[in-house]
Amino acid sequence: MHRSLLSFLMAPEGGGTLTLTVSKQEGEEILEGSLTDAAGRVYPIEDGIPRLLPTELLEAQRSEIAARDSQVGDYDRMAFLNLFGKIEIPLTLKLLGPRPDDRLLEGGCGTGRMSQTLARGVKEMVAIDFSFESLRVNRKKLLAAGVTNVHLVQADLCHLPFAPGAFTRAVSCQVLEHVPGEEARRGAVSELSRVLRPSATLVLSAYKHSLFTRMFGEKEGAHDGGIPFFRFTMRELKDLLGTCFRVERITGILVYLYITQCKKH
Ligand SMILES: C[S@@+](CC[C@H](N)C(=O)[O-])C[C@H]1O[C@@H](n2cnc3c(N)ncnc32)[C@H](O)[C@@H]1O
Repeated sequence: MHRSLLSFLMAPEGGGTLTLTVSKQEGEEILEGSLTDAAGRVYPIEDGIPRLLPTELLEAQRSEIAARDSQVGDYDRMAFLNLFGKIEIPLTLKLLGPRPDDRLLEGGCGTGRMSQTLARGVKEMVAIDFSFESLRVNRKKLLAAGVTNVHLVQADLCHLPFAPGAFTRAVSCQVLEHVPGEEARRGAVSELSRVLRPSATLVLSAYKHSLFTRMFGEKEGAHDGGIPFFRFTMRELKDLLGTCFRVERITGILVYLYITQCKKH
């Protein structure tokens, strides 16, 4: 973690500033230490990653964290993701339109399938995920690639530990469908909006309830290990994002996914 992150970091519960204690630092990077909020809650920094999860998470989220942590080696081997990524990643970038002075939020970065590509086009990026093991894999890849403008933070999309308007752009790919329940999904959309500047762009993708899944799949359920999912109709996704954003484009070019381009109201 770089010290500059503190200028827009906030406590995940109750907001407010955080006090940094450093126990191990290498150059500019704080590797071990802690962040303490005004109520005395202590959030550790481990392997250079601040761990800012709120104490109260939904049960389905806890089981997803455990599943993502234990399946961390499998994610990058999913052949269909690598295949679809050839269309999905360039399209995401095109809709996002990153600029060199942007501070970009990647919400739910996982093991970093997109992180390096996204980081290359901007000044600074913050990549969050609630799976610590995924963040550690992502960190190793970023270090190996020499990418130095990314802050990794363990956080929940529904309780983002950042100041209002901290970001000029945001992206969140294949995450919202895993947030369990309508209320939590609304919370996630509202948090993405809160941390963006007015008129900022969000590109978000989520599972599509396609003709195929209508015939052969489920609208809602759980993947292996208890990872919850919800497949959206176009109307459902538009209505949900429309609570905080103007949906400018929505494309169903990939059979299983909608990709949306939204502007904060
Ligand atoms: C299907 S993966 C997508 C990862 C990456 N965006 C990509 O496209 O490869 C979903 C990721 O979202 C994370 N995630 C799900 N719900 C989350 C939440 N509420 N807060 C933070 N991360 C979450 C999971 O841990 C997982 O890494």
